[in-house]
Order: sequence, then C-alpha cells, then structure tokens
Amino acid sequence: MAVDTRATGLHTSRLDELIAAQERIFLDRQPRSAELLRRARRTLAGGVTSSWQIARPQAVWLSHGAGSKVYDVDGTEYVDLHGGYGVMAVGHAHPAVVAAVSARVARGTHFAQPTEDAVAVSEELARRFGLPLWRFANSGTEATMDAVHLMRAITGRPRIIKVEGAYHGHHDSLQVSVYPPAEETGPASRPASVPASSGIPDEIVGLTTVVPFNDLEVLERVLDEQSGEVAGMIVEPIMMNAGIIPPVDGYLEGVRELTRGHQVLLAYDEVKTGVTVAAGGVTELSGVQPDVLCLAKAIGGGVSTAAIGGSAEVMEHITSGRYDQVGTFNGNPLAMAAARAALTEVLTPDAYVHFATLRELLAAGCQRVIERAGLAAHVVAVGAKGCVTFSPHPVRDYRDFLGIDDRLSHCHWLFQHNGGVFLPPWGKSEQWLLSVQHTEQDAQRFLANFGAFADAVSS
Ligand SMILES: Cc1ncc(COP(=O)(O)O)c(C=O)c1O
Repeated sequence: MAVDTRATGLHTSRLDELIAAQERIFLDRQPRSAELLRRARRTLAGGVTSSWQIARPQAVWLSHGAGSKVYDVDGTEYVDLHGGYGVMAVGHAHPAVVAAVSARVARGTHFAQPTEDAVAVSEELARRFGLPLWRFANSGTEATMDAVHLMRAITGRPRIIKVEGAYHGHHDSLQVSVYPPAEETGPASRPASVPASSGIPDEIVGLTTVVPFNDLEVLERVLDEQSGEVAGMIVEPIMMNAGIIPPVDGYLEGVRELTRGHQVLLAYDEVKTGVTVAAGGVTELSGVQPDVLCLAKAIGGGVSTAAIGGSAEVMEHITSGRYDQVGTFNGNPLAMAAARAALTEVLTPDAYVHFATLRELLAAGCQRVIERAGLAAHVVAVGAKGCVTFSPHPVRDYRDFLGIDDRLSHCHWLFQHNGGVFLPPWGKSEQWLLSVQHTEQDAQRFLANFGAFADAVSS
C-alpha cells in the first residue's frame, strides 16, 4: 500500500515516479560514463575506486575540474558542491595550489624526510586550533586511528566511547554503529555497539561504547559505569555524516567537563569541519579545547593529507617514542606544499567572509523555496557547509536522522545533477561544500534547481 511521506504529504508512488523520471534523464545524459563503467567493472571491483563513489543510478565519471566547476566525461559542466566529499574548499586548480604543487613536482615529490613546508603547515595549524604540537598522516582514517591509539597508549586503558551514527573512517575501533539499522540499535539510553561492516571482530566491537549525540546524561552514566576502563572519547563536534547535526547549547562544554572529570581523554574529529566551518573549525567556534584533534580533507587543498594535533602532555607520548606515530607518506612533500598554499594563501580571512556571504544567500533562498512550496524541511548551514534536511523538526541525534525519508534527498540530488549542480550522492547523509571560487551565479543555479524540485514534489 502506498503511504504519504512524512516530509511533504506527497503520495509515495508520485515520488517514486519523479525519481524514476529523473534517473532516466540522468542516464540519457551520461552515455560515456556508462561505457567507462562497463569497462571498469572488468578490473575495478564494483567499477569504482571506493565504494562510496557508487551512486544511483550510476557512478559519475569526471574528466576535470576548474574553479567552481567539474566536467563529466560526456562534457557536461556542473557547479561542484560535492567538493570531493568535503575536500575542495580551495576550488579546482586554484592558481596558488597549482603553482605550489608544480614547483614541488619539479623538485621531487617524495623523500620520507621532512621538508620546510611541513613546519609551516604545523605552525599554521597550531595558530588556528590553539594546540601546540602536530604530526601528519594521509587520510582522516589514519588521523582518527592515531587518536585512538594515542588515547589508549597514554591511559593504558582499552575502551573508546563514540557517538551513534558518527563516521570516523574505516579502521576497526571506530567502524562501530556508523549507520546501524533501526532494528539493531537497541534502547536509546543504552545504544548497542553494532559492527559497521563485515570483517570487524566482535572482540574489537566490544571495546567501543556507543552513546547518543547531544545527551550528557547517558554519557555521564557510561563514564560512571565504565570507570577505569575508558581511554578516551572521540566526537565529531558538529555531526556531518548525518546531514548536519549541530551540538545543542552546552553539549560540547559538558562533554569536556565530564571527560576531564573522569580522567578520560577527548578527541575531536574535525576531518570534515576542520578548516571549513571556520578557520579553526568547531574548536574555534565552540571555544572548547579537546586533548587530541584530527584533521584531513580540506587542509590538503586537494592532495591527500591529514594531521593530528595535541596538547604538550598528549604529544609527549609521541615525542618520547612511547607511541610510534609513523607512515611512509606522512608529511609527503607534495601534500605539504599543497597544504601550505591552501592554508596560508587561499583559505585566508577573506575566504571565510566569502563563505558566509554565499551561505546566507543559499540558506535564505532555500528557506524561501521551502515556505513557498510548503515543504516540511529546513536548512542547516555553518561556514562553507550546509544542507537541506527533509524534516520539519531540528535533528538532534542519529535516531531522529533515521526517521527521515531518504527518497526526498535522492530526488533532490537528481534534480540538482540534471540541472548542472553536483552534490555528494549519499542522500540525506551528506552536505554541500562551498569553495573560494564559487560565485553568486553558482548559488543561483542551485536555488533554481531546488525551486524546480520543490515545485515538482509539491504539485
Ligand atoms: C568525520 C570524518 N572522519 C573521518 C573520515 C575518514 O576520512 P578518510 O576518508 O580521509 O579516511 C571521514 C570521511 O568521510 C569523515 O567524514
């Protein structure tokens, strides 16, 4: 039996028809992508290079990017608000990054020895985030893995606390309760620890305690119950893999106080929020200092890198060699050259003013469309990031997020794509990323597509 969707009052079969029609348009526009996918499936597992590149109805194959745009292999131009999953805050082929990387390529790209750029980048991160000491890695996964190892090494305790529905990368300890199905989540006051994929041993899953976001009561009870077992807590201080879920007033301060009170370390995962929501991430916005901070994505200006920062006491365990923070490509010269240019020449104070201007334009424009069309939705936006959440109510945690009908986000994604705007393909989970090279015209294209979508679903 067809049912009404929660968010629009739209008949389910009508929404499915709209999606089917948009998927046909999508496929008709991308014959060359289809050809490449057929070829790729013979030698690339699933025809992609990471499972999260799979999109419905088909992975999009890109040829190049320039400024605020990317181009698919069929020659179609898109305003890029996907940003390579939250990386390209500098935009594509920014002249400062091109110059820095080109100069570095000509002088050698890898030595596994430090270069001067690494010092400049660590100085800039120390200035932005207020933590004195840094090390580099190559991905967000490596950064949060180092944070977990470090917290265990310092305390000598095995247990880690993480938030239900938060994604911190694909290493074992945090591949727990990432997108657990509703029937496996257990009671809200005592969420179950659910492996996020096959291949994660129960013994490891059992060492990760899961708590709801924005709930200090449960956190306090867990810390009391597991007193003496917990090494640290890792939290994404604005959740960004469930749309965007901001912390409620006092939550981050409460987490800081409770963890400190229980002699438990606190790690912030600012892989996504890092230099995008503000120059110094949520650390700057909230004024709450973690013991360990993880960065990746946008700090590299489009080249793969990551960083962990910490207080002097925390990083002493690395300095002294008690924890070996290692990696052949850590601080790779190419990545450091790109990161230095991105952080010191592109993501300057003016960049954050530009993000705020375009964010306001997008947020106000979306809100107008939502009201005109009577959509049960709202906009959440901070810094260069934002999304439309198809729920009439603010989303407070993963369980609220689970209740949102993902087909509306998918339908919106298709309208944007077919209208020349590229958003991340994972429906309600993801959000847009602005770059310094986006313009008001780019924002207007997004708003026109959003208006067309809203008219279609509300007619
Ligand atoms: C909050 C957060 N932490 C960590 C990661 C892992 O980063 P990477 O994909 O670079 O390993 C991601 C990736 O999306 C992320 O969103």
